[in-house]
Amino acid sequence: MNLDINMPIGFMDSGLGGISVLREAVKLMPEENFLYYGDSANVPYGNKKREEIKRLTFHVVEILINQGIKGLAIACNTATSAAVKDLRLMYPDLPLVGIEPAIKPAIEQSMGGTILVMATPMTIRQEKFRHLLEQYGQGHDVVSVPCDGLVGFVENGMFDQDLLDVYFRKHLGPFVNSSTESIVLGCTHYPFLKANIREYLRTEHHREDIDLIDGSYGTAKELRRRLAEKNLLKINTGWPGHVEILNSSSDTDMVEKSYELLNRPEL
Ligand code: DGL
Repeated sequence: MNLDINMPIGFMDSGLGGISVLREAVKLMPEENFLYYGDSANVPYGNKKREEIKRLTFHVVEILINQGIKGLAIACNTATSAAVKDLRLMYPDLPLVGIEPAIKPAIEQSMGGTILVMATPMTIRQEKFRHLLEQYGQGHDVVSVPCDGLVGFVENGMFDQDLLDVYFRKHLGPFVNSSTESIVLGCTHYPFLKANIREYLRTEHHREDIDLIDGSYGTAKELRRRLAEKNLLKINTGWPGHVEILNSSSDTDMVEKSYELLNRPEL
């Protein structure tokens, strides 16, 4: 595989969620060029079978590799749990990072309360998730919260609080109580809902002290480390990089929506 420092860094997600990881990477590596591919034609991945998610992920990765990339971030927890092992075998020379629910950081800062993990049903069902719980969750109260359908709100740009409250009341509310200490956002779409989740917790549970934790910064840092290790990191060039976004959806607005999310002030 021919890797060149001037090539862009590839990013993929089932749709727009991976932009939450991309924006951290842009902040950390401002001189890099990025090529992001959102597979919104096939979103959500989170309620599909493992084999189907692998097939879709391999296809997107192949598109990025054919364009020429020097590193790759699987900016989707669901695609990571289904396909990252195989991708590492398929492309052993490519600096490659995946993302997994940030249970480890949540446990490191835990004061002994309950940690909720919001993720897609597929991520929660996977062996990788069970391993993560076995590895770090021993002696801690970590509870999975499957969030079927939540990705759709972000894909459709639906950030209306009343609508989201209806969703949260049904899917998150039953798990929140006085011992809830933090919530891990185990899907890359969810950081865009941070303000809505906080508002829901404040108004319906009178809780303003629950930490929302996601793995986007950690993943971007790991990506930078992997590139540096192979001398593929651009530093001190004096030139700012740029971001190119592609999307499989026939809805041409998806690319524009992606740039809007990328430039949205963090809440
Ligand atoms: N952003 C993906 C993740 O992190 C969403 C998966 C889906 O499409 O359901 O899991």
